[in-house]
Amino acid sequence: MKITFFDTKDYDRAAFTKYDGRDGLEFKFYETKLCEDTVELAKNSDVVCVFVNDDLNSAVIEKLHAFGIKLIALRCAGYNNVDLAAAYGKIHVARVPAYSPYAVAEHAMALLLCSVRRIHKAYNRTKDFNFSLNGLTGFDLYGKTVGVIGTGKIGKAFIDICKGFGMNILAYDKYPAPMDHVRYTELDELFRESDIISLHCPLTSETAHMIDQESIARMKKGVIIINTSRGALINSEDLLNGIKERKIGAACLDVYEEESDLFFEDFSGHIVNDDTLARLITMPNVIVTSHQAFLTEEALSNIAEVTVKNILDYFGSNVLENEVCYHCGLLENCKKKRKERCF
Ligand code: NAI
Repeated sequence: MKITFFDTKDYDRAAFTKYDGRDGLEFKFYETKLCEDTVELAKNSDVVCVFVNDDLNSAVIEKLHAFGIKLIALRCAGYNNVDLAAAYGKIHVARVPAYSPYAVAEHAMALLLCSVRRIHKAYNRTKDFNFSLNGLTGFDLYGKTVGVIGTGKIGKAFIDICKGFGMNILAYDKYPAPMDHVRYTELDELFRESDIISLHCPLTSETAHMIDQESIARMKKGVIIINTSRGALINSEDLLNGIKERKIGAACLDVYEEESDLFFEDFSGHIVNDDTLARLITMPNVIVTSHQAFLTEEALSNIAEVTVKNILDYFGSNVLENEVCYHCGLLENCKKKRKERCF
């Protein structure tokens, strides 16, 4: 079984190498992302193993199918970068639904604490022996209201952390799952009442640009927005305008809608052409990390373990427990519910 990996870095290879050569698995690692220009590299493989910014559009999928690729093994939970409708009936798609919700939830809280206690500024100051406190005044999280959008695995882990800080919790989810000390509400109320808003829902046609000029207008002045989910949940131009107008108090961004050509690479010493991102980064109240929330040893090890299991399940003719298709969640008569493959 030949598996071609795209968009790999040292830390990915370190987690996967121990499985190479075992159980008939043969790995080939590429640093380049999978897209129409690079798809030829997948020739002669059985599986492509991809990450969040590989572009599996219908043209790429057609080529992969023509090469005889049988499985797209995502090393991540989100699958918005795969044209599932194009893949259906041709190539199976499996993902790693949860590798460490704690990693992402803890990163969201790390960004929030960094922002409200100005740690990013204090760190730079004390490095320069500047011990002044001017401009570092923060605020207590205790007693503040946090609005959590998406209360799945990561949203729940984040809520648990917020409970520990003594925060009031409002939540919105398309499929609410009631929890103690959490009040589900409509989005409008969540926008109006929250001091802090944290996004933990997937990127879909329904959720794309859910944070835009219109929703920002409904928010409290000084609101802090945290996005560790997917960049396109936020209209970045509208976010920037909200910051310029002093409506948004701070933004903590681990993801960015145009991240795919930038994140995971070193552009220091280069001129970055994305003016919106460049302007956001110059703001004193914006913290950007480059899709790093998942990056813990525990998560990397779980990603490798589940990805390999998905591949072995596929070739072992087992049920593909972590398969996704464009019918998922939509069909009454879902094959996966009957413990069958999607097609
Ligand atoms: P999950 O599937 O456990 O939870 C997602 C929740 O969103 C579910 O409760 C679902 O009902 C809800 N939802 C679906 N459609 C919605 C809508 N229209 N409005 C509101 N809620 C909606 O997923 P999990 O593991 O909690 O991950 C959440 C997201 O986090 C992923 O979709 C992915 O985009 C992102 N993520 C980011 C990582 C990073 O490193 N920054 C790493 C892993 C995931």
